[in-house]
Amino acid sequence: MSRNADDLVRFIQDRAGDAPVKYGLILGSGLGHLADAVDGVSIDYAKLTGFPHAGVSGHNPKLVIGTLEGVRVAVFGGRAHYYETGRGDAMRLPLEVLKGLGGEALIATNAAGSLRPDMPTGSLMCLTDHINFSGLNPLIGEQSDARFVPMKDAYDPALRAALLSAAQASDVDLAQGVYAWYSGPSFETPAEIRAIKLLGADAVGMSTVPEVILARFLGLKAAAISTITNMAAGMSDEAISHEHTKAMAPLGAAKLDKVLRRFLQTQT
Ligand code: HPA
Repeated sequence: MSRNADDLVRFIQDRAGDAPVKYGLILGSGLGHLADAVDGVSIDYAKLTGFPHAGVSGHNPKLVIGTLEGVRVAVFGGRAHYYETGRGDAMRLPLEVLKGLGGEALIATNAAGSLRPDMPTGSLMCLTDHINFSGLNPLIGEQSDARFVPMKDAYDPALRAALLSAAQASDVDLAQGVYAWYSGPSFETPAEIRAIKLLGADAVGMSTVPEVILARFLGLKAAAISTITNMAAGMSDEAISHEHTKAMAPLGAAKLDKVLRRFLQTQT
């Protein structure tokens, strides 16, 4: 772990106590409100040297350490994307901090476009795997042999099963599928969407993949859920814009809250 991460872990533990957290949750566009439901200590990213300046509207740039449904969690109310800085490892420090706080697993959430007509706006999708369509990798430049991270079952089968059971118990449909990472910030063209559909993608978005690669590198388990905010480019007449993403995220967010809370209840 970097020295900065060690320093931040101490800084955070001085304020929030040093009981280990179990899960780290990263909240995507329009999904940041869950951070406010945690009973704990909230620290603005601005106070955490080296944390992203979460400059994308619809995010809630603070780290909250505390209890949610009886489980100690670290909730990251916002994320940095590759397209903000040109750095694929923009979330490395927050994930190192999660590991330093005792985290066992990362649960990432995001807003995504759907490539499947049976998964319309407002649906949730549990990631089974990903396609790194950007070709970028957050571990480029890493020197240690640990950089050769195996990515089979990167989306932890046991965590996925627990999330699916939680969805079933909460009466929420949780689809499963493959997420393709597109660097952004422009949206995809219809031709790109047709291409990734042929390659096996079910949803497309601009985040999560580098975080999951970094999580596995750091020895954290990983799981992720997409909230579908639109049909992908060329698949419908629906507008595609960041405004639309933020406006549609609440459709899935209420269901996502239910699933995550139920999931946590089973983890105590
Ligand atoms: N493409 C990429 N990212 C997204 C989309 C999309 O259609 N919707 C929400 N985030």
